[in-house]
Amino acid sequence: MAVLQTTNVIKDYQMGEVGVRALDGVNFTVERGEFVAVMGPSGSGKSTLLHLLGGLDGPSDGEVTLAGQPLSRLSDNQITLVRRRKVGFIFQFYNLLPTLTAEENIALPLLIDGQPLSRHQDKINRLLDLVGLTDRRHHKPDQLSGGQQQRVAIARAFVNDPEIVLADEPTGNLDSHSGTAILELLRRSCDELGATIVMVTHDPRAASYADRVVFLKDGRIVHELSNGKGHHGQDVNKIMAVMAQLEL
Ligand SMILES: Nc1ncnc2c1ncn2[C@@H]1O[C@H](COP(=O)(O)OP(=O)(O)OP(=O)(O)O)[C@@H](O)[C@H]1O
Ligand SMILES: [Mg+2]
Repeated sequence: MAVLQTTNVIKDYQMGEVGVRALDGVNFTVERGEFVAVMGPSGSGKSTLLHLLGGLDGPSDGEVTLAGQPLSRLSDNQITLVRRRKVGFIFQFYNLLPTLTAEENIALPLLIDGQPLSRHQDKINRLLDLVGLTDRRHHKPDQLSGGQQQRVAIARAFVNDPEIVLADEPTGNLDSHSGTAILELLRRSCDELGATIVMVTHDPRAASYADRVVFLKDGRIVHELSNGKGHHGQDVNKIMAVMAQLEL
Protein backbone atom coordinates (compact mmCIF):
# COMPACT_ATOMS: atom_id res chain seq x y z
CA MET A 1 0.00 0.00 0.00
CA ALA A 2 1.25 3.49 -0.81
CA VAL A 3 1.91 5.57 2.29
CA LEU A 4 2.79 8.59 0.26
CA GLN A 5 2.15 9.69 -3.30
CA THR A 6 2.79 12.80 -5.32
CA THR A 7 0.96 13.39 -8.59
CA ASN A 8 2.39 15.89 -11.09
CA VAL A 9 3.70 18.07 -8.30
CA ILE A 10 4.97 21.50 -9.26
CA LYS A 11 6.49 24.01 -6.86
CA ASP A 12 7.25 27.56 -7.92
CA TYR A 13 8.91 30.13 -5.72
CA GLN A 14 8.62 33.80 -6.51
CA MET A 15 11.66 35.91 -5.69
CA GLY A 16 10.66 39.48 -6.53
CA GLU A 17 10.49 39.58 -10.32
CA VAL A 18 11.96 36.13 -10.93
CA GLY A 19 10.22 32.82 -10.56
CA VAL A 20 12.06 29.61 -9.66
CA ARG A 21 10.53 26.26 -10.54
CA ALA A 22 11.90 24.08 -7.72
CA LEU A 23 9.82 21.00 -8.63
CA ASP A 24 8.71 20.36 -12.17
CA GLY A 25 6.16 17.54 -12.40
CA VAL A 26 7.20 15.04 -9.75
CA ASN A 27 5.43 11.68 -9.58
CA PHE A 28 6.67 9.70 -6.64
CA THR A 29 5.22 6.84 -4.59
CA VAL A 30 6.46 5.36 -1.34
CA GLU A 31 5.18 1.96 -0.26
CA ARG A 32 4.81 0.92 3.36
CA GLY A 33 8.07 -0.41 4.81
CA GLU A 34 10.28 1.09 2.11
CA PHE A 35 13.49 2.99 2.77
CA VAL A 36 13.91 5.48 -0.09
CA ALA A 37 16.85 7.82 -0.64
CA VAL A 38 16.45 11.03 -2.66
CA MET A 39 19.69 12.23 -4.24
CA GLY A 40 20.58 15.16 -6.45
CA PRO A 41 22.85 18.18 -6.65
CA SER A 42 22.42 21.31 -4.54
CA GLY A 43 19.32 23.21 -5.66
CA SER A 44 17.74 20.20 -7.40
CA GLY A 45 14.66 20.40 -5.17
CA LYS A 46 15.32 17.70 -2.57
CA SER A 47 14.40 19.72 0.53
CA THR A 48 11.46 21.28 -1.28
CA LEU A 49 10.16 17.80 -2.09
CA LEU A 50 10.60 16.65 1.51
CA HIS A 51 8.75 19.71 2.84
CA LEU A 52 5.85 19.02 0.50
CA LEU A 53 5.79 15.32 1.40
CA GLY A 54 5.46 16.24 5.07
CA GLY A 55 2.83 18.93 4.53
CA LEU A 56 5.20 21.68 5.74
CA ASP A 57 4.43 23.53 2.53
CA GLY A 58 1.91 23.05 -0.28
CA PRO A 59 2.55 22.48 -4.02
CA SER A 60 1.80 25.16 -6.64
CA ASP A 61 0.07 22.44 -8.64
CA GLY A 62 -0.51 18.69 -8.36
CA GLU A 63 -1.37 16.62 -5.31
CA VAL A 64 0.38 15.08 -2.32
CA THR A 65 -1.48 12.17 -0.74
CA LEU A 66 -0.33 11.14 2.71
CA ALA A 67 -1.72 8.06 4.43
CA GLY A 68 -4.63 8.03 1.97
CA GLN A 69 -5.51 11.71 2.47
CA PRO A 70 -5.09 14.21 -0.39
CA LEU A 71 -3.58 17.18 1.46
CA SER A 72 -5.14 19.78 -0.85
CA ARG A 73 -8.57 18.84 0.51
CA LEU A 74 -7.56 19.41 4.13
CA SER A 75 -7.63 22.67 6.09
CA ASP A 76 -4.41 24.02 7.59
CA ASN A 77 -5.50 22.71 10.99
CA GLN A 78 -6.17 19.25 9.60
CA ILE A 79 -2.77 19.23 7.88
CA THR A 80 -1.12 20.20 11.16
CA LEU A 81 -2.79 17.21 12.82
CA VAL A 82 -1.77 14.82 10.03
CA ARG A 83 1.80 16.08 10.30
CA ARG A 84 1.84 15.75 14.06
CA ARG A 85 0.35 12.26 14.17
CA LYS A 86 1.54 10.59 10.98
CA VAL A 87 4.92 12.09 10.12
CA GLY A 88 8.27 12.06 11.90
CA PHE A 89 10.93 14.59 10.87
CA ILE A 90 14.72 14.35 11.19
CA PHE A 91 16.80 17.38 10.18
CA GLN A 92 20.49 17.95 9.58
CA PHE A 93 20.89 20.13 12.67
CA TYR A 94 18.82 17.95 15.06
CA ASN A 95 16.44 20.79 16.07
CA LEU A 96 16.30 19.71 19.73
CA LEU A 97 15.04 22.07 22.43
CA PRO A 98 18.11 23.09 24.46
CA THR A 99 16.30 23.36 27.81
CA LEU A 100 14.83 19.84 27.68
CA THR A 101 16.59 16.56 28.53
CA ALA A 102 17.07 13.80 25.95
CA GLU A 103 14.03 12.00 27.30
CA GLU A 104 11.88 15.13 27.29
CA ASN A 105 12.92 15.96 23.73
CA ILE A 106 11.90 12.46 22.65
CA ALA A 107 8.52 12.89 24.36
CA LEU A 108 7.91 16.37 22.96
CA PRO A 109 5.63 15.36 20.03
CA LEU A 110 3.36 13.56 22.52
CA LEU A 111 3.26 16.59 24.82
CA ILE A 112 2.41 18.88 21.91
CA ASP A 113 -0.36 16.48 20.97
CA GLY A 114 -1.72 16.73 24.52
CA GLN A 115 -1.10 13.07 25.40
CA PRO A 116 -0.30 11.99 28.97
CA LEU A 117 3.32 10.84 29.16
CA SER A 118 2.59 8.25 31.84
CA ARG A 119 0.78 6.20 29.22
CA HIS A 120 3.84 6.25 26.94
CA GLN A 121 6.71 5.66 29.36
CA ASP A 122 7.30 2.09 28.12
CA LYS A 123 7.58 3.31 24.57
CA ILE A 124 9.97 6.10 25.53
CA ASN A 125 12.12 3.57 27.40
CA ARG A 126 12.15 1.28 24.38
CA LEU A 127 13.17 4.14 22.08
CA LEU A 128 15.94 5.23 24.47
CA ASP A 129 17.18 1.64 24.38
CA LEU A 130 16.87 1.43 20.57
CA VAL A 131 19.06 4.50 20.08
CA GLY A 132 21.46 3.48 22.86
CA LEU A 133 20.88 6.49 25.13
CA THR A 134 19.29 4.99 28.24
CA ASP A 135 22.23 6.17 30.35
CA ARG A 136 22.03 9.68 28.83
CA ARG A 137 18.30 10.19 29.27
CA HIS A 138 18.71 13.11 31.68
CA HIS A 139 21.35 14.93 29.60
CA LYS A 140 20.53 18.20 27.86
CA PRO A 141 21.50 18.60 24.19
CA ASP A 142 24.66 20.59 25.01
CA GLN A 143 25.79 17.65 27.15
CA LEU A 144 25.51 15.26 24.19
CA SER A 145 27.72 14.71 21.13
CA GLY A 146 26.37 15.50 17.66
CA GLY A 147 25.77 11.82 16.95
CA GLN A 148 23.95 11.38 20.27
CA GLN A 149 21.80 14.45 19.58
CA GLN A 150 20.86 13.02 16.20
CA ARG A 151 19.92 9.74 17.88
CA VAL A 152 17.61 11.69 20.21
CA ALA A 153 16.08 13.30 17.11
CA ILE A 154 15.54 9.86 15.56
CA ALA A 155 13.82 8.55 18.69
CA ARG A 156 11.67 11.70 18.71
CA ALA A 157 10.73 11.12 15.07
CA PHE A 158 9.46 7.63 15.94
CA VAL A 159 7.66 8.42 19.20
CA ASN A 160 4.24 9.04 17.64
CA ASP A 161 4.37 5.78 15.61
CA PRO A 162 4.42 7.74 12.36
CA GLU A 163 3.27 6.37 9.02
CA ILE A 164 6.41 7.83 7.54
CA VAL A 165 9.71 9.35 8.67
CA LEU A 166 11.23 12.12 6.55
CA ALA A 167 14.94 12.85 7.00
CA ASP A 168 16.85 15.73 5.37
CA GLU A 169 20.61 15.05 5.30
CA PRO A 170 20.49 13.31 8.70
CA THR A 171 24.22 12.54 8.54
CA GLY A 172 25.27 15.81 6.87
CA ASN A 173 26.66 17.30 10.06
CA LEU A 174 28.32 14.17 11.48
CA ASP A 175 31.72 12.49 11.19
CA SER A 176 31.69 9.23 9.25
CA HIS A 177 31.66 7.01 12.35
CA SER A 178 28.59 8.73 13.89
CA GLY A 179 27.01 8.91 10.45
CA THR A 180 27.32 5.15 10.02
CA ALA A 181 25.66 4.59 13.40
CA ILE A 182 22.73 6.78 12.32
CA LEU A 183 22.36 5.00 8.97
CA GLU A 184 22.46 1.59 10.64
CA LEU A 185 19.79 2.79 13.06
CA LEU A 186 17.53 3.94 10.20
CA ARG A 187 18.11 0.65 8.38
CA ARG A 188 17.22 -1.28 11.53
CA SER A 189 14.07 0.80 12.05
CA CYS A 190 12.85 -0.39 8.67
CA ASP A 191 13.88 -4.00 9.11
CA GLU A 192 12.76 -4.43 12.72
CA LEU A 193 10.03 -1.83 13.31
CA GLY A 194 8.62 -1.84 9.79
CA ALA A 195 9.26 1.90 9.49
CA THR A 196 8.85 3.75 6.19
CA ILE A 197 11.60 6.30 5.52
CA VAL A 198 12.39 8.93 2.90
CA MET A 199 15.92 10.30 3.32
CA VAL A 200 17.47 13.15 1.36
CA THR A 201 21.24 12.90 0.99
CA HIS A 202 24.18 14.04 -1.14
CA ASP A 203 26.23 11.08 -0.04
CA PRO A 204 26.22 7.88 -2.15
CA ARG A 205 27.40 5.86 0.84
CA ALA A 206 24.40 7.08 2.87
CA ALA A 207 22.04 6.37 -0.05
CA SER A 208 23.38 2.80 -0.26
CA TYR A 209 21.50 1.97 2.96
CA ALA A 210 18.18 2.56 1.19
CA ASP A 211 16.16 0.01 -0.79
CA ARG A 212 15.50 2.48 -3.57
CA VAL A 213 17.35 5.58 -4.76
CA VAL A 214 15.56 8.36 -6.63
CA PHE A 215 17.68 10.93 -8.50
CA LEU A 216 16.45 14.52 -8.83
CA LYS A 217 17.83 17.06 -11.25
CA ASP A 218 16.37 20.51 -11.91
CA GLY A 219 13.20 19.56 -10.05
CA ARG A 220 12.54 16.37 -12.01
CA ILE A 221 13.09 12.69 -11.24
CA VAL A 222 15.65 11.64 -13.81
CA HIS A 223 16.54 8.13 -12.66
CA GLU A 224 15.73 5.48 -10.10
CA LEU A 225 17.55 2.42 -8.72
CA SER A 226 15.50 -0.27 -7.02
CA ASN A 227 15.71 -3.88 -5.90
CA GLY A 228 13.35 -6.77 -5.86
CA LYS A 229 11.51 -7.45 -2.62
CA GLY A 230 13.55 -8.81 0.25
CA HIS A 231 16.75 -7.07 -0.81
CA HIS A 232 18.08 -4.41 1.48
CA GLY A 233 20.38 -1.63 0.46
CA GLN A 234 21.89 -0.57 -2.84
CA ASP A 235 25.34 -0.98 -4.34
CA VAL A 236 27.32 2.20 -3.71
CA ASN A 237 29.25 1.72 -6.97
CA LYS A 238 26.02 1.59 -8.96
CA ILE A 239 24.87 4.81 -7.29
CA MET A 240 28.14 6.54 -8.14
CA ALA A 241 27.94 5.29 -11.72
CA VAL A 242 24.47 6.83 -12.12
CA MET A 243 25.69 10.11 -10.59
CA ALA A 244 28.60 10.24 -13.04
CA GLN A 245 26.43 9.32 -16.01
CA LEU A 246 23.81 11.98 -15.19
CA GLU A 247 26.44 14.53 -14.14
CA LEU A 248 24.86 14.93 -10.72
N1 LIG B 1 11.73 29.65 0.17
C1 LIG B 1 12.27 29.76 -1.05
N2 LIG B 1 12.11 30.87 -1.79
C2 LIG B 1 12.61 30.97 -3.03
N3 LIG B 1 13.33 29.99 -3.63
C3 LIG B 1 13.52 28.85 -2.96
C4 LIG B 1 13.03 28.67 -1.63
N4 LIG B 1 13.39 27.44 -1.20
C5 LIG B 1 14.09 26.89 -2.20
N5 LIG B 1 14.19 27.72 -3.25
C6 LIG B 1 14.84 27.43 -4.56
O1 LIG B 1 14.32 26.20 -5.04
C7 LIG B 1 15.36 25.38 -5.58
C8 LIG B 1 15.40 24.06 -4.87
O2 LIG B 1 15.82 24.26 -3.51
P1 LIG B 1 15.98 23.09 -2.46
O3 LIG B 1 16.26 23.70 -1.14
O4 LIG B 1 14.82 22.18 -2.56
O5 LIG B 1 17.28 22.32 -3.02
P2 LIG B 1 18.08 21.10 -2.42
O6 LIG B 1 18.12 20.05 -3.47
O7 LIG B 1 17.54 20.72 -1.08
O8 LIG B 1 19.56 21.71 -2.26
P3 LIG B 1 20.69 21.44 -1.14
O9 LIG B 1 21.31 20.13 -1.52
O10 LIG B 1 21.64 22.57 -1.33
O11 LIG B 1 20.04 21.42 0.21
C9 LIG B 1 16.63 26.21 -5.47
O12 LIG B 1 16.87 26.82 -6.71
C10 LIG B 1 16.31 27.21 -4.41
O13 LIG B 1 17.03 28.41 -4.62
MG1 LIG C 1 18.31 20.79 0.88
